[in-house]
Amino acid sequence: MEETGPSLSWLLQDAARQLRAALGLENPEARLEARLLAGLALGQGSAWLIAHEREPVSPQASAGFAALLGRRLAGEPIAYLRGEKEFFGRSFVVNRAVLVPRPETELLVETALATLPAGQVARVLDLGTGSGAIAVTLALECPEWEVYATDLSPTALEVAQHNARRLGADRVRFAHGAWWKAVEDVKFFDMVLSNPPYVAEGDPHLGALAFEPSGALVAPDEGRADLASIIRGAPLRLANGGWLWLEHGCGQGAWCRQELLAAGLGNVQTKLDYAGLERVSGGQKVSK
Ligand SMILES: C[S@@+](CC[C@H](N)C(=O)[O-])C[C@H]1O[C@@H](n2cnc3c(N)ncnc32)[C@H](O)[C@@H]1O
Repeated sequence: MEETGPSLSWLLQDAARQLRAALGLENPEARLEARLLAGLALGQGSAWLIAHEREPVSPQASAGFAALLGRRLAGEPIAYLRGEKEFFGRSFVVNRAVLVPRPETELLVETALATLPAGQVARVLDLGTGSGAIAVTLALECPEWEVYATDLSPTALEVAQHNARRLGADRVRFAHGAWWKAVEDVKFFDMVLSNPPYVAEGDPHLGALAFEPSGALVAPDEGRADLASIIRGAPLRLANGGWLWLEHGCGQGAWCRQELLAAGLGNVQTKLDYAGLERVSGGQKVSK
């Protein structure tokens, strides 16, 4: 006798129920995630899932679906299960070596694009590139820019280099090392961007971020240590008129502005995200 399992529709409903209970998702989001996981497990798109909802799922496919669902119920981000995340309209490969690029970081990219006139030749640096989301996006949006990208994590750099190759940003130059040290041999930058670790040790939000590398998230000194290293090194590495832009926590704007001013940068300012929160601060090296 042929072995049959529960229908796809039953599996989807049951998965959505578990996702609501375990992760506190609203019903539409839970249903969407259940479909996404089923699509991944069965290797099929949403049209196929709709067309085959009433059919039984083989025990082997059910087991694959259950395994993915188990990982999601444990809190693993969907992006790691899919192995990709969309950023600024492009799909970036991600794994547990890199932070999942966030929509908030698109503000840093928008700020960079608005800072230097389109078509201008410029040397631009992304410090702590992770998946390469910022550097690769800027290299593709502004092909005339000479883009550098660094990271302390060699495995993150591998992911970033892979993304640069597959998205056609072959000219991004990657360097391994701690903040400014990684680019010691490069003279001056017209713009430097960074989304460094800025979460304080022991922050209660870290529980929900347990699957992402802590070296990408957490910084000593109430989350300020890496921001401070980057700001304090900037005046020596920016070209005259060059800009530094940093993503930071929504409660770190005032402190960042103070540090940027203390480092001697001018035109110090903060950009708000779509929720009206202070997210990106920067300043310019102005001649005295
Ligand atoms: C918040 S993640 C940002 C990743 C990516 N730029 C993004 O926005 O999605 C911070 C990155 O900084 C890197 N990092 C941490 N400490 C560093 C250091 N001392 N020097 C260079 N990179 C560092 C981490 O490995 C991580 O990839």
